Amino acid sequence: MKILVTGAAGFIGTNISMHFLNKKNTIYGIDNYDDFNSIKLKKFRIKQLKKNKKFYFKKIDITNRNALFNFVKNKKINMIIHMAAQAGVRYSIINPKKYINVNLNGFMNVIFAAKKNNINKIIYASSSSVYGDSKNFPSKETHKLNQKNIYAVTKMLNEKMAETYSKITHIKFVGLRFFTIYGEFGRPDMFLFKLFKSSFTNREFQINNFGNHLRDFTYVRDACEIVFKLSLKKTKKNEVYNVCSNKPENILKISKYFNNKYPVKIKLINKHKADILKTHGDNKKLKKTISFSKFKKIKNQIFKVYNWYKSNKIYKM
Ligand SMILES: NC(=O)c1ccc[n+]([C@@H]2O[C@H](COP(=O)([O-])OP(=O)(O)OC[C@H]3O[C@@H](n4cnc5c(N)ncnc54)[C@H](O)[C@@H]3O)[C@@H](O)[C@H]2O)c1
Repeated sequence: MKILVTGAAGFIGTNISMHFLNKKNTIYGIDNYDDFNSIKLKKFRIKQLKKNKKFYFKKIDITNRNALFNFVKNKKINMIIHMAAQAGVRYSIINPKKYINVNLNGFMNVIFAAKKNNINKIIYASSSSVYGDSKNFPSKETHKLNQKNIYAVTKMLNEKMAETYSKITHIKFVGLRFFTIYGEFGRPDMFLFKLFKSSFTNREFQINNFGNHLRDFTYVRDACEIVFKLSLKKTKKNEVYNVCSNKPENILKISKYFNNKYPVKIKLINKHKADILKTHGDNKKLKKTISFSKFKKIKNQIFKVYNWYKSNKIYKM
């Protein structure tokens, strides 16, 4: 298959591109090298991907409709995996307009690129944050949504856009509500790589909400295999799935577990107003659709990912 991966220089986009390349697909990766996270790290990820001859990359901003359309034209792309977005919950308090522009206008351009070029499947990233501060666990796809920040609102609207365009175009949509993805090529603004950096550089590690947050950590390679299986599956016109391990873990406990082997100066601080207390997803719908059940546990992965982090000198990027 020929697949367009948007956000290919990002954490999940890189892992997905690698996974699909290993399964002999051709990947057209695009990314604008946005400076929200380290550009050096993004270039490092693309450098790794370029080792495969079936990976092509172009720096493109998805909000630039003409550039996107020109790139997609005549490539005979079969499917789009849309991972480009302005991610991050806390930054959405500071710069909400950027989320509206990239996550809504950008997604609209991606949908129209598919419509114009007869691409009949879009797999796109939604987020567990659409559930907001739920009290009803585990969160099911059918539960009422209750967004707490603009990031989550844009993800909920992506799902609405998919629902609408699935009715009036030929495109099939698969929305993925990712729950705290972690692993190799991870994001420097997320818990795990911040923990690694603090430990490696011997700097204080601040944990919000006095360490009381719970997160349904999901290993990135599990997420990639799930995306791969969904890409092959004959899905309905419009579907949304939780992508989660269904095993919430306490942030402080994970930090202490890591600290037993690699010391970290932990400092407990207040809750941030954009943060969600707990995420815990139900993955029955996903498991029923594809045969995937062996989710890796963070305690079994954390030191392997840390070794990868050190050997690739990610702390320098
Ligand atoms: N990592 C998680 O735990 C998680 C959880 C829930 C949802 N998600 C969603 O999954 C997707 C991938 O997340 P990630 O963790 O890999 O984030 P990421 O920030 O590492 O990757 C996103 C990529 O999109 C690119 N990008 C941003 N604006 C762009 C634009 N205008 N044009 C082209 N490219 C642009 C960025 O440069 C970046 O490389 C995002 O949609 C994110 O919201 C991630």
